[in-house]
Amino acid sequence: MVREQYTTTTEGTHIERPEDQNVYKIGIYGWRKRCLYLFVLLLLIILVVNLALTIWILKVMWFSPTGMGHLQVKKDGLRLEGESEFLFPLYAKEIHSRMDSSLLLQSTQNVTVNARNSEGEVTGRLKVGPKMVEVQSQQFQINSKDGKPLFTADEKEVVVGVDKLRVTGPEGALFEHSVETPLVQADPFQELRLESPTRSLSMDAPRGVHIKAHAGKIEALSQMDIKFHSSDGMLVLDAETVCLPKLVRGTGGPSGSSQRLYEICACPDGKLYLSVAGVGTTCQENSQVCL
Ligand SMILES: *[C@@H]1O[C@H](CO)[C@@H](O)[C@H](O)[C@H]1NC(C)=O
Repeated sequence: MVREQYTTTTEGTHIERPEDQNVYKIGIYGWRKRCLYLFVLLLLIILVVNLALTIWILKVMWFSPTGMGHLQVKKDGLRLEGESEFLFPLYAKEIHSRMDSSLLLQSTQNVTVNARNSEGEVTGRLKVGPKMVEVQSQQFQINSKDGKPLFTADEKEVVVGVDKLRVTGPEGALFEHSVETPLVQADPFQELRLESPTRSLSMDAPRGVHIKAHAGKIEALSQMDIKFHSSDGMLVLDAETVCLPKLVRGTGGPSGSSQRLYEICACPDGKLYLSVAGVGTTCQENSQVCL
């Protein structure tokens, strides 16, 4: 604000220039001044509050020269100690456990591992649920340490590649259809039984059936006939003793004979019978059994 006062001078007149009237007054006065002070004060308050808030945030967030709380920024990446929650997907290239500790994936619901192709379709899935473990894939394989397949399952077959398959359940193993194997063998010192409790059992081998009992006997029991058929061969009973203890005894001969010798006679249909031996043959006399 400049206040200037001029007094026009005319010749002969006294020029009056009072000192106080010739002062240039520069400055802020009155309400403007108060406003400015108020403004500066407000700014100061805001600054202090800002500083306090910043310090508070730094303290609350645990800022430190190396990072923020449990989150540390290092040369080779981030390090987060303590529990961390990611409420949405976490994208990572690899997940490792820490040195000398195992890796645990845990959930009260299913834990699923999916493999997807470039179109995003699931091509393989491993699902561990509270009630079952499910693998969905074209082939499931378990390999040994040196890469030998121990168990392989695909749509066509299941292969168990181990040396021995042991079924320990009391019910054994059930196969709906045939079992193909070159050998059926009992455990050492165990009996082996081949059984069909309510139906028949048949053994069929075009090139021959051999039944051997090296240190025991062979017994065949049957309620009905026992038949040995041979189309081209003969029936050989190769033993020092051949007994037919229940062979029928021909009747009509001299009964009560003291001699204990008999001769074996045959009917026309092949049936054998005994006849008390005489000087000549006695078959004819005792042939009534053939009728
Ligand atoms: C877990 O998996 C099973 C089997 O696939 C499924 O039936 C069930 O719905 C799943 N549970 C949840 C919560 O997704």
